[in-house]
Amino acid sequence: MASLARQRLSDDHRTVNQVLKQLLAALHNKDVTASYSKLDLLWARLAVHIRAEHLHLFPAVLNRLSESTHETPDLSEAKSVVENLRADHDFFMVKLARAVNILRELPKPIDSQEGKATLDSILDVVLEVEKQLENHNRIEESQIYQWASMILTEPEQLELTTRINAELENRPSRFSAEAWANGL
Ligand SMILES: [Fe+2]
Ligand SMILES: [Fe+2]
Repeated sequence: MASLARQRLSDDHRTVNQVLKQLLAALHNKDVTASYSKLDLLWARLAVHIRAEHLHLFPAVLNRLSESTHETPDLSEAKSVVENLRADHDFFMVKLARAVNILRELPKPIDSQEGKATLDSILDVVLEVEKQLENHNRIEESQIYQWASMILTEPEQLELTTRINAELENRPSRFSAEAWANGL
């Protein structure tokens, strides 16, 4: 019971990762329509995940640490970890939003060298995001998620889980419930 929030967010990392793999497959196949829909889904799934962390997880951990004395982590350590995680979030959102806009404008099917080069440049961006996201998720799962399950009381964790669930279920209407839940 006490690790619900941690489990929910870790599971969400796996689902987002599946969408990312599907996007990479579509890009490798030079399928612009599938690439666009997977990229749009990736961007939206990552956006709600990030919002859940910013609005609920990070404040819960930092507030708890500022109210009581913990040695591992201490407040300044946690603050600097959160600052780095936030910088990663900005990086993901900026890179992916730019890629969504470029892909939206790309004529389908691709019939020019220029179009192919554009698709390759999007593939490079997505690979860069994949690499950074892998590292980012590892840090979250071994630090801030773990801290949340260590330092918050059980009722606080339940409340946090409820808030995180509500945020993650904030599905834009253009996605089906199934696509949103399973990345399909
Ligand atoms: Fe994150
Ligand atoms: Fe995360």
